[in-house]
Amino acid sequence: MTKINFKFPALGVAFGLLTAGFSMNAAAAEPSLSEADFDKAKSMYFQRCAGCHGVLRKGATGKSLLPQDTAKLGQARLEKILTFGTEGGMNNFNDIFTKEEISLLATYIQLEPPVPPEMPLSLMKERHKVYIEPKDYPTKPMHNLNWENFFIVIERDAGKVAIIDGDTHKIVTHVNTGYAVHVLKGTEHHSTQHPKDALGRFWYTQGRDGKMTKIDLWQSPDKMLVAETQMAYDARDVAVSGDGKYVIGGGYWPPHFVILDAETMEPLKVVSTRGVNVDGDFVNEARVAAIYTTPNAPTFLVAVKELGQMWQVDYSDLNNLRIDTMDTAKFLHDGFFDRTGRYFQIAANASNKMVMIDTEKRKLEKIIDTASKPHPGPGANWLDAKCGPVGGTTHLGEGKVTVWGNDPADHPDQAWKICYEVETDGAGAFIRTHPKSKYVWADQLKHPEPEVQQSVQVIDKETREIVKTIRVTEEDGKAALHMEFNAAGTEVWVSVWNRKESSLPNGEIVVYDANSLKELYRIKGLTTPTGKFNVYNRVNHVS
Ligand code: HEC
Repeated sequence: MTKINFKFPALGVAFGLLTAGFSMNAAAAEPSLSEADFDKAKSMYFQRCAGCHGVLRKGATGKSLLPQDTAKLGQARLEKILTFGTEGGMNNFNDIFTKEEISLLATYIQLEPPVPPEMPLSLMKERHKVYIEPKDYPTKPMHNLNWENFFIVIERDAGKVAIIDGDTHKIVTHVNTGYAVHVLKGTEHHSTQHPKDALGRFWYTQGRDGKMTKIDLWQSPDKMLVAETQMAYDARDVAVSGDGKYVIGGGYWPPHFVILDAETMEPLKVVSTRGVNVDGDFVNEARVAAIYTTPNAPTFLVAVKELGQMWQVDYSDLNNLRIDTMDTAKFLHDGFFDRTGRYFQIAANASNKMVMIDTEKRKLEKIIDTASKPHPGPGANWLDAKCGPVGGTTHLGEGKVTVWGNDPADHPDQAWKICYEVETDGAGAFIRTHPKSKYVWADQLKHPEPEVQQSVQVIDKETREIVKTIRVTEEDGKAALHMEFNAAGTEVWVSVWNRKESSLPNGEIVVYDANSLKELYRIKGLTTPTGKFNVYNRVNHVS
């Protein structure tokens, strides 16, 4: 144990985690491993377990596996869990590892976690795979479906996305991706060098395990996965440049972003986000929470969560990378552009603030104080009779929708001030609307009561009042979350999702009429569906 701590400095020292506990007690029965076994187990853990349990073993989709948790279970019980899995979504590993390897891993997870490894460019290149060469890409769609109204739906626990035809509500295919995809983004080519019809053709996904994939919606459904790579062990977001040349992936661990060739997915450049935060403290684990492409400039916006900084990264010259860093507020999370594409509105959720970035000046525009933990997800912009153009967010911390003016040009008095707030029944994570809709939808995923977390609320843009509460499901253990409109703005799709990990395809999407608010269809056969991305709406920034 001492030896291991010496060789692999305990995380607690480096990252301020809990390290006490394990090595203190259990003098005689204390588990230990030789250096070689420890290294072997470490590598098995990063390959097979970190995606669900977290690089730092603090728990993610799977539970925390820190020594104070695992020691309670003990060697025999841990071996059994690893061998057979559990009903709660832990995989069985008896078909992947030998008995000896399982025993090794069971011991390993009772020891203090080592500092996780770095990921150099060379390793990313090893993990880069091209399934279909760009020269073999079709020049027209290989199916006669209306791909611009496809919905790409994250199936969290299946490590897949489902492609659903928005016209017929049929599942076209399921495409393998990284585990628990967080976000995906489509090509928004604003440049004239690219054919107009490529808008929204290619989609890039980012898995929590750092695996990024490229999807070609013009391919026949069985060939839509065209390339992949891995750029981190733990990651959240991805974006594709306005000229369609580059893809960028952001890592939680290692804390860095990586720029890749959008055509082949070959990793090109790694930039660390470790640094000094807005308080002047050095942060080793400065995670990239979110990344966006700016519609009006050749830049990416990189939200460095723990630094409290927005980085505007200019991709016009990768060898002389220009990065404008903006001090904002800590714990940046997720955001969306205003209707002009100039201003970016992002939540610093643990600071209870919305941060506004002017991407033209590459400067902080304003910070607004809000209710507890704003979280807009894909966000919503609409027109308010009094305040003019506004943006809105839900809150993870309380049942509220906050609405602010976002048009400094024509409504300077209302801009970047709270216009109004709506009390909802429960805290939520996602808000959504469409220019053709009279309504703004908010979910209530974070409320503890099943009845509330299974309901979404609909706000009238004109009266600013809740006009309807819709119970999307009444099934035990399920919640309603994340709304998305179809391209025409006539339907709203809401996900029904297992709160617990589940590899069963028993989640569904419920489709509502955007006007009458009546239920139209249920799309079944989906595994833990979460985020949904309508091709047309996303690449055209319709919200
Ligand atoms: C697909 C995601 C996933 C992967 C991959 C995964 N786990 Fe799990 N694991 C889970 C989930 C979910 C649970 C909680 C299960 C439950 O509550 O029944 C869990 C539970 C456990 C537990 C029990 C923890 C407790 O406190 O009860 C252990 C131990 C464990 N996992 C170890 C591992 C190890 C070691 C690996 C890699 C070999 C691994 N897991 C890979 C999802 C995963």
